[in-house]
Amino acid sequence: MSNAELRHHTFDGIQEFDNHLPNWWLWSFYSACLFSIGYWIWFHTLGVGELPPEAYQTEQRAAAARIEAAMANNPVTEEMLLKLASEPAVVAEGEKLFKTPSLCAQCHGPDGNGMVSGLPGVGPNLTDDYWIHGSTAMDIYKTIHDGYPEKGMASWKGYGATFVQRATAYVLSLRGKNLKGKPPEENAKQSTPAK
Ligand code: HEC
Repeated sequence: MSNAELRHHTFDGIQEFDNHLPNWWLWSFYSACLFSIGYWIWFHTLGVGELPPEAYQTEQRAAAARIEAAMANNPVTEEMLLKLASEPAVVAEGEKLFKTPSLCAQCHGPDGNGMVSGLPGVGPNLTDDYWIHGSTAMDIYKTIHDGYPEKGMASWKGYGATFVQRATAYVLSLRGKNLKGKPPEENAKQSTPAK
């Protein structure tokens, strides 16, 4: 029972005491307020802490870096390339370089569908099921690594192993998207490899 005074109002014959809030409750409330200020400064003002989406990105990048490091010491295989293509951080890096206007996008279009500024570009549509040089991960890797310079597709190996791997990972992510775009090249063969 409380010694506090009764409040003056009555609801349906029920009265209530004018109790103080318990100290434990008040302290947990004040500490929550203080905590929220610290939290705001740490995560939002100073940006020292990583919020969950950033922490996720960091983890993704670390996973991608581990696979890329493993690839640097091993021969490139179909499995390795498919593994890379399943790492969102690697595909995102590949997308960045692919879409750089001075790199792949100038001939294959930023979407990879062979359309550059609304017109068919120099390079083929990389999202359809028709491939000139084969559609396995190793075929695509070889095309980007060695190129077919006599046909207008440069060799990109000079940009380094990581560049070629990231570009391959991105092209693999385009494979089978079938975006509306440049029609298949005459010398391309239909092939739909298992993903
Ligand atoms: C100067 C224009 C040009 C640039 C830049 C270019 N490509 Fe190509 N690419 C081509 C052409 C042309 C072909 C078709 C070659 C052929 O007919 O044999 C091709 C073919 C390809 C193919 C094989 C398509 C198939 O059907 O087998 C892939 C994969 C590819 N390019 C990826 C890339 C990537 C990735 C980049 C950027 C790192 C890039 N290309 C940059 C012009 C270009």
